[in-house]
Amino acid sequence: MIAGERPGPTSTARLLAHYDQPGPRYTSYPTAVEFHAGFGEREYRERLAAADAHTDEPLSLYAHLPFCEARCLYCGCNIVVTKHRGVASSYLENLLLELDLLARALPHRRTLSQMHWGGGTPTYYPAADLERLFQAIAEHFRWTPDAEIGIEVDPRVTSPEQIRVLRRLGFNRLSMGVQDFDPRVQEAVHRVQSFELTAELIHVARAEGFRSVNVDLIYGLPWQALEGFQRTLDQVVTLRPERVAVYSFAFVPWIKPHMNHIPADALPAPELKLALLARAIDAFTRAGYRTIGMDHFALPDDDLARAMDTGALHRNFMGYTVQSAPDMVALGISGIGDVQGAFAQNTKKLPEYAAQIAAGRFPIERGYALDADDLVRRHVITRLMCDSRLDVRDVERRFGIPFAATFATELDELAGRGPWRTDGLLEITPDAIELTDLGRTFVRNVCMVFDRHLRRQAAQARPVFSRTV
Ligand SMILES: C[S@@+](CC[C@H](N)C(=O)[O-])C[C@H]1O[C@@H](n2cnc3c(N)ncnc32)[C@H](O)[C@@H]1O
Ligand code: SF4
Repeated sequence: MIAGERPGPTSTARLLAHYDQPGPRYTSYPTAVEFHAGFGEREYRERLAAADAHTDEPLSLYAHLPFCEARCLYCGCNIVVTKHRGVASSYLENLLLELDLLARALPHRRTLSQMHWGGGTPTYYPAADLERLFQAIAEHFRWTPDAEIGIEVDPRVTSPEQIRVLRRLGFNRLSMGVQDFDPRVQEAVHRVQSFELTAELIHVARAEGFRSVNVDLIYGLPWQALEGFQRTLDQVVTLRPERVAVYSFAFVPWIKPHMNHIPADALPAPELKLALLARAIDAFTRAGYRTIGMDHFALPDDDLARAMDTGALHRNFMGYTVQSAPDMVALGISGIGDVQGAFAQNTKKLPEYAAQIAAGRFPIERGYALDADDLVRRHVITRLMCDSRLDVRDVERRFGIPFAATFATELDELAGRGPWRTDGLLEITPDAIELTDLGRTFVRNVCMVFDRHLRRQAAQARPVFSRTV
């Protein structure tokens, strides 16, 4: 039985039969599959010009540093594996040029409340390169006093010296990949990383004054079993990271062919996946962590837990965040900006990226301009993902719409005769939609009911998304 599960007819098998299906993780709405080439550089520049008029509002900046020395077999990120340092050096030069382009397009909009460097592995770069990029950003932008400045570090390639430099520069959050400490799992996914190495890096980060360390785990990896995963959870609890992300393994071999090297018979069945998640929920809540949104945990005095209490939690391409910035800009291949009601994504290909930058153009490959309906649904989905609850009256006030009439089909599906009503995942009143503890596990499925684009895609039956369980 999974955490929060009610005894009786709502068995795990029944839940899986109803809800285990392909579905988005909703780091954006609409999801990236809706982006199209009709939205390009010209449209992005128009949005940047509109954004520049909001001089007093802070921005969020994401920089994508895609390089890794080797590929972990589970990895679904946009990465470039190379041992040729020259490739990474030219990329850095292009990133600096893209930064100049951006600064010229935003002459009056220069405050950042959030910055995140992700990848790939940003610490693939030596400390001097990381410093160079940071200083270049600092020449154009300034940070709000409480800005979240975060970076992803792979403990296997990150030195204490890099940690010290990052802290000195002003980074205040570190996010570390762990996934699982079980040696059998680590070997199967080609990522061998000892507990001691991870503990040592967290120790260095604390000593340097990082105020928040996050650890990433994944459930659903090959050979994961209850006993081994429990050991991993116990080990992570002893490290006491301020935040933990426990991601469901997104197995998408049709998009990432290297995942075909994972032996399919070693993947845990959906029942076991749910049991692994239940172990994680149990381990972290027992250890005093709060559950945040869909797949995060935070110590009660971490900003993420505080933000949840005040309804100030946000979700974007970087996952759950505290600082909401009305516009987000992105640098580097595959980076996605979210500016003035439109998404704009850079090309994922290094040569194309270099060519566009050399021509003085933003390397936008595709994007999407949200319409009025998208904006309402985006709010509904974001609040459900962040608060496990939707304040119906707040939606009506914000958007000037009658909720029940606008979402008649969705409410009928959730409250009508189907499984939703009897499975005990939600409580619906005229004022709110509330997820139960059990419902939180299936929040992606609830959001899918409100996803207009998904209904259309369903007719085409393409295997686009990973499964919700
Ligand atoms: C860009 S990666 C990691 C940063 C750094 N390179 C490292 O390996 O430590 C960010 C996180 O995404 C998660 N991740 C990557 N691929 C995933 C997948 N297919 N399913 C679920 N989570 C995934 C992992 O937890 C990983 O730590
Ligand atoms: S998990 Fe991290 S180190 Fe492994 S391939 Fe992905 S980005 Fe690179």
